[in-house]
Amino acid sequence: MSIRIQEGGHEISGALKYMLKKFEKMPIKLCVDPEEGALHIARYIALAIRQKQQDNQYLVLGLATGSSPIKVYNELVRMHREEGLSFKNVVSFNLDEYYPLKADAQQSYVRFMHEYLFDHVDIDPANVHIPDGELPIEKVEQFCADYDKKIQFFGGLDIQILGIGRTGHIGFNEPGSWLSSKTRLVKLDHVTRVDAAKDFGKEENVPYRAITMGIQTIMSAKQIFIMAWGSHKAEIVREAIEGEVSEMVPATFLQGHANVKFYLDPRCRGRANSG
Ligand code: GLP
Repeated sequence: MSIRIQEGGHEISGALKYMLKKFEKMPIKLCVDPEEGALHIARYIALAIRQKQQDNQYLVLGLATGSSPIKVYNELVRMHREEGLSFKNVVSFNLDEYYPLKADAQQSYVRFMHEYLFDHVDIDPANVHIPDGELPIEKVEQFCADYDKKIQFFGGLDIQILGIGRTGHIGFNEPGSWLSSKTRLVKLDHVTRVDAAKDFGKEENVPYRAITMGIQTIMSAKQIFIMAWGSHKAEIVREAIEGEVSEMVPATFLQGHANVKFYLDPRCRGRANSG
């Protein structure tokens, strides 16, 4: 007989809970809703920033774009305004940027980061790093090598936050990305371009390429928080946390990270297993 329990307003049977745990190859946190997950991650980041402040050190943050982390940024901005959380000792490195794309384009990740975080906190603009979508092609390779070097110069990423694309990409590491990949220029998967079409008006307007941190760059972070909300991510999330590690689902590489946590809501984790 299975015991029925309430989880996030959704009823999950004891048997189903056991089944979920049995197949998980990385730690997950099933949140009541995206707000709960965002609060948890934002509080962890705030604590880490304050601890580093006490030691007079930088906190090196790897940042993501997309809808998934927006609530984390909202909470960090709130903490800055209402609780005096300072970002003066934060150095940030964003995961990726479309290529080519002007920084002032509506869809650029530079614009996104300013809109949701940087314009509302006291981070030193000199400490903000985002892959440059405006570079001439002959300068991209050197830029990417320097990006990884800069991360190392600051002692590596302390915390990396991630979303997941429907292809299983993290950053823009599409299927076929190697574990040893570093920051580089990549070709976007067709599914990713279809998903991005809503931001660019139509698919033809979506750039074919992007600059992304590599899998190795991401895996070198000391702590990784990945998040996915909603039933449209359920299938790829199931592959990421239950599937064999494979280049075809780059997020599966995270199974090999010693300090990763996957934040999910019941819509995202329940449905893929119930059918
Ligand atoms: C883009 C970003 C990824 C992000 C993904 C998911 O492809 N490059 O880093 O994880 O979108 O976006 P969303 O959170 O909106 O589902």
